[in-house]
Amino acid sequence: MLSVTNLESGYGEMQVLWGIDLEVKEKSITVVLGPNGAGKSTTLKTIFGTLKPWSGKIEYIGEDITFLPPHKKVELGITFVPEGRHLFPNMTVKDNLYMGAYLKRAEERFEESLELVYSLFPRLKERESQKAGTLSGGEQQMLAIARALMTAPNLILMDEPSQGLAPKLVKEVFETILKLKDEGLTILLVEQNVFASLEISDYAYILHEGRIAFGGTVDEVKESEDVKKAYLGV
Ligand SMILES: Nc1ncnc2c1ncn2[C@@H]1O[C@H](COP(=O)(O)OP(=O)(O)O)[C@@H](O)[C@H]1O
Ligand SMILES: [Mg+2]
Repeated sequence: MLSVTNLESGYGEMQVLWGIDLEVKEKSITVVLGPNGAGKSTTLKTIFGTLKPWSGKIEYIGEDITFLPPHKKVELGITFVPEGRHLFPNMTVKDNLYMGAYLKRAEERFEESLELVYSLFPRLKERESQKAGTLSGGEQQMLAIARALMTAPNLILMDEPSQGLAPKLVKEVFETILKLKDEGLTILLVEQNVFASLEISDYAYILHEGRIAFGGTVDEVKESEDVKKAYLGV
């Protein structure tokens, strides 16, 4: 569904990504693992277009989308849940959700999307009039995911959804991601939480200093002693 070939990018003069190749299969969960500073966020930002690719190719359902701006990618059904949630804290839960549906594609499917979101996150429905800033950390992460769903996406890019959450909430967030897959969505996430994310993923890539060091099925990653020792520290 998404095919990234030889992607390179960085900030100013500094190159961060070197020849990134990755494939995301439709209706699967693919995780990119790597330590702090490996280039995980940079990878997602470059794919989504908030950071301009220097070179390489990004194809989505056979279409070259390498240099499309983010809003065009959203129109094609790609959405991004950035690190740190970026909610509007003084707006209600429901208004945050409305803000997610600002493009034509999303507006047309607003009712349908809201129904899906409230069925996946009944707690957000209960709290729809509450200010986003007063939600717990886990609820805010759910709201960030929910808001991304309001764009009626096919492919969701997620930057460390488990970051800063207590173990019980991490479990909840990952269970939610599995439910998104059951709804027919395709997910590309980046994570430092190796164990929890491998539990729910189908495919995994290891990112090491801006390069893909390994890619394969989750079983292949789990079985590879070299990969585990060298890159996962387990
Ligand atoms: N906005 C930025 N400006 C300059 N350098 C950045 C910026 N964001 C990240 N970097 C650098 O790019 C490298 C990769 O960062 P990042 O993609 O955020 O890693 P990760 O998400 O894996 O922790 C790091 O060396 C980081 O310092
Ligand atoms: Mg990051």
